[in-house]
Amino acid sequence: MPNTPNSPIYVTDALIAEDIDAYLEQHQQKSLLRFITCGSVDDGKSTLIGRLLYDSKMIFEDQLAALEADSKRVGTQGQEIDFALLVDGLAAEREQGITIDVAYRFFTTEKRKFIVADTPGHEQYTRNMVTGASTADLAVILIDARKGVLTQTRRHSFLAHLIGIKHIVLAVNKMDLVGYDKAVFDRITLAYRAFASEIGITNFTAIPISGFKGDNITALSDNTPWFKGPALIEHLENVEVGSAADEAKPFRLPVQWVNRPNLDFRGFSGQLASGKVKPGDAVRILPSGKTTTIDRIVTLDGDLDEAVAGQSVTLTLADEVDCSRGDVIAAADAPPEAADQFEATLVWMADEAMIPGRAYWLKLATQSVSATVQAPKYEINVNTLDHLAAKTLDLNGIGVVELSTDKPITFEAYGDNHTLGGFILIDKLTNATVAAGMLHFSLRRAQNVHWQATDIDRDMRASLKNQRPALLWFTGLSGSGKSTIANLVEKKLHRMNRHSFLLDGDNVRHGLNRDLGFTEADRIENIRRVGEVAKLMSDAGLIVITAFISPFRAEREMVRGMLPDGEFIEVFIDTPLAEAERRDVKGLYKKARAGQLKNFTGIDSPYEAPENPEIRIDTTAMTPEEAADLIIDRLLG
Ligand code: ADX
Repeated sequence: MPNTPNSPIYVTDALIAEDIDAYLEQHQQKSLLRFITCGSVDDGKSTLIGRLLYDSKMIFEDQLAALEADSKRVGTQGQEIDFALLVDGLAAEREQGITIDVAYRFFTTEKRKFIVADTPGHEQYTRNMVTGASTADLAVILIDARKGVLTQTRRHSFLAHLIGIKHIVLAVNKMDLVGYDKAVFDRITLAYRAFASEIGITNFTAIPISGFKGDNITALSDNTPWFKGPALIEHLENVEVGSAADEAKPFRLPVQWVNRPNLDFRGFSGQLASGKVKPGDAVRILPSGKTTTIDRIVTLDGDLDEAVAGQSVTLTLADEVDCSRGDVIAAADAPPEAADQFEATLVWMADEAMIPGRAYWLKLATQSVSATVQAPKYEINVNTLDHLAAKTLDLNGIGVVELSTDKPITFEAYGDNHTLGGFILIDKLTNATVAAGMLHFSLRRAQNVHWQATDIDRDMRASLKNQRPALLWFTGLSGSGKSTIANLVEKKLHRMNRHSFLLDGDNVRHGLNRDLGFTEADRIENIRRVGEVAKLMSDAGLIVITAFISPFRAEREMVRGMLPDGEFIEVFIDTPLAEAERRDVKGLYKKARAGQLKNFTGIDSPYEAPENPEIRIDTTAMTPEEAADLIIDRLLG
């Protein structure tokens, strides 16, 4: 089944047979409306989509083929039959589970092209609705006239509003089953208005329809003389889309790539997120803040006098300023902010729950940075809109969180600019998209705290000590021998007049980290703090040795990323679990096996062994002395 906006389509349009060029030309000129339909199968969503496809005379090739085969079999060409078959086809698809993810369908009328994202409506598919809605101009919220406003109506409306969909259509469906009763329609519209205003939806268009019978779909129906319109398709054709509002905002272009075919040409390509731009306009490059002016606006079809929101162009600048992928070119007098700490709404989309403190990739427009998320301030119950206390977010969970990035990002509030305020989070190990988010604002503490440049730098401190700083990061199971070997390494370094500092798990947990336990979140915070301290100490010019289980790859990699290349040396103290348990120096394995110690690494809490450690020590094959010598050799050799 076609599942993309570019699926092959079967066109029953006279023009296409006669003059394909004229057809395509006409087609090109039409504006595009992207919309989503929200509702469950029971609300008649399949029927409505089938009706839209059918009435607009645009049907997918394979659906048409199926229809033809079926109509030959039943020997009829009647509209009702064909339509019913089409709907059956859509329903069958759903049953086979094909539309568990978002299915995009394309259709067109004389006036406009449409892409409808068909998103399954069950509660567990919040993720899909958000995916489908992220680019939509309009949402059709379906209500069964016999049932009225339901919990799921509230959920869909809340999500549509959260994503920032500007136009809401309340399609009160199955009017044929309530005798086209105006009172029913009015009652539902009134109930919906009360709820909508509660969540901030000020405007919506209510239309009484029957997807099955076709009432008020393409034209006003005689069955509802009391309804003055518009019919659904008429409304979809005329609703204002696109860029008028975006064009009025200040100019921003997130740079997608630098176009440098030869030494004479240096252009910056991307899509205008908002505003307009002309040659001669003064612009500012973010985050550097450098200013210059626009020289040319280049496109494949020649230079432009002006580009507007939504257009993809290549800009050349009057001066040779630094500008690369991820930077934002903006109006000089109204630049967006840059910050590294934010409040945001997150929609969690992965089966694995969010891990507070873990670093994820954050992608916003063309920027990509590392970000960590704090435990939610609260989770939102999408059905009741209640705010709930939460430690994490599970699949389909929506919450308000604080997050921080390792580098400042150029952004705007999602409410002002979807491109510069909407982001996704990506798991660093699996590369899966785990969340979609919307930035609210930067945290004041980030705005008012600036990095202070100091005159004595890390190289100067290290050279006074006659050494190169390094971080020997020991990792391994409890009782694997980390502390013993680390201690020997430090003693040997000391004898060699090297300046060092050993941070040991059990010791640090007595002081700096005495507030932390052994849950996943606490271990991550433990390593984050130790990483920061180790970094400061290496800035001081020291050779730092750390001995922590540090069971998670992600956090070890995070610390690696905090240091200059080559300075982080991962030392895997590789003692098999059975051996560590046999030695059981502190008697903790025995306790853990007896169930007296929860979350014990290797027993009921995971240990992710390094994949490519700089140094691996097999403690079953060498003594601690030999191990320490080997490590020193590798460090100084
Ligand atoms: S880490 O996982 O957060 O890196 P860390 O190295 O600081 O752990 O602390 C591990 C030490 O704490 C162990 O050597 C052991 O002495 C003690 N400990 C107490 N409870 C646990 C537990 N549930 N799991 C692992 N170690 C524990």
